[in-house]
Amino acid sequence: MPAPLTPSAVDKLRALTPGTRSTVHFNHAGASLPSAATLQAVHAHLEREAAQGPMEAGVASRELTESARALAAQLLNAQVGEIALTTGNSSGWGAAFAALPAWRPGDRILVGRHEWGGNLACMRLHAQRAGAVLETIPSDDSGCVDAEALEAMLDDRVRLIALTWLPANGGLINPAAAIGRVARKHAIPYFIDAAQAVGQLPIDVAQIGCDVLSGAGRKALRGPRGTGLLYVRREFLDQLTPAFVDTHSAPLDTDGEPVLRPDATRLESAENSLALRCGLANALREALDLGLDAIRASIDANAQALRTELAAIPGVDVLDQGRERSGLIAFNLAGHDAAVVQRKLAAQGIVIGSNGVPYTPLDMEARGLTRIARASVSYLTSAGEIDRLLDALRKIADLS
Ligand SMILES: Cc1ncc(COP(=O)(O)O)c(C=O)c1O
Repeated sequence: MPAPLTPSAVDKLRALTPGTRSTVHFNHAGASLPSAATLQAVHAHLEREAAQGPMEAGVASRELTESARALAAQLLNAQVGEIALTTGNSSGWGAAFAALPAWRPGDRILVGRHEWGGNLACMRLHAQRAGAVLETIPSDDSGCVDAEALEAMLDDRVRLIALTWLPANGGLINPAAAIGRVARKHAIPYFIDAAQAVGQLPIDVAQIGCDVLSGAGRKALRGPRGTGLLYVRREFLDQLTPAFVDTHSAPLDTDGEPVLRPDATRLESAENSLALRCGLANALREALDLGLDAIRASIDANAQALRTELAAIPGVDVLDQGRERSGLIAFNLAGHDAAVVQRKLAAQGIVIGSNGVPYTPLDMEARGLTRIARASVSYLTSAGEIDRLLDALRKIADLS
């Protein structure tokens, strides 16, 4: 395992992150805290827009805004033409899904139990209503999507395999590459929702073997809200006809015919916040400079420390499944609704998340869970913050 960031490196990074002074943040999986330099990159572009005119500032800053695409490609080990810049995870995943060929009655879509509720909504609205069938791939004893069970389900009606790599409701890490080997072997399109993985894990799309992978800028990457990235494998692009095009994604030729862009930008829209793209570029640069191996090792060390101490608090049930774990920690405190725990902590300046069924309905229902408290760490998380969260939870537990 690569070495985590040193405590002095973390101290420096915290000093460069204004939010660490005003909040004890355990909701990095909802959205993390941007660095001062990322904020400054956003502000600087807004200033340029105000001074030069937004269209003119956009032209002048093109190199900077486009650097986000090149950096995203570097982050995922993809080619620049395989990256679309989006406004979030769902906008990218949904654009790719809606661009697939028409669904036919009897088509099968196989999904992991942890699939994000928004992706399920897309699949149900567009595919199931056209007669396609959505089926859940069995999980193994640890709760992970089972690649062998997936292979046993395949036939020539399977048109898509969809995996949420790091579920939103806990610390499980699905075996994305093992699923990818099955998808490649049988030449079945493979979509990965990597909203929680991008910026948290080293990612190599070539090694994973996916056709589409979506990520959000605001989570582990620490980019601004309203940013995201989408990878589409070059050889897969021809299968995608966007449901919606504009002057950017499909400009008209001299005969007035729309010409789809030859690369992943066919899934982008013409109008965007370039200020946010400048911020995203900065966040990507910072993540690459720190190194994804060191980021992963630091998040893992923080998550393990918190998980171990949490489990020792009487009444706390840590709910994370899987063999390998992420920086998301799901738990419940006996006798306390997770939303109430969240509110009580917020009153003390400590931020956690709490999820109901709709974000990960298949998994929550399979495990009989109605709500979970979710504490998510970053490499920025300090030992002092972990102690504050644990102390506050012990007090809430004692008062019951
Ligand atoms: C696994 C997963 N997928 C998708 C999303 C939705 O991302 P966005 O709000 O950027 O569309 C989230 C958000 O928490 C998530 O955790």
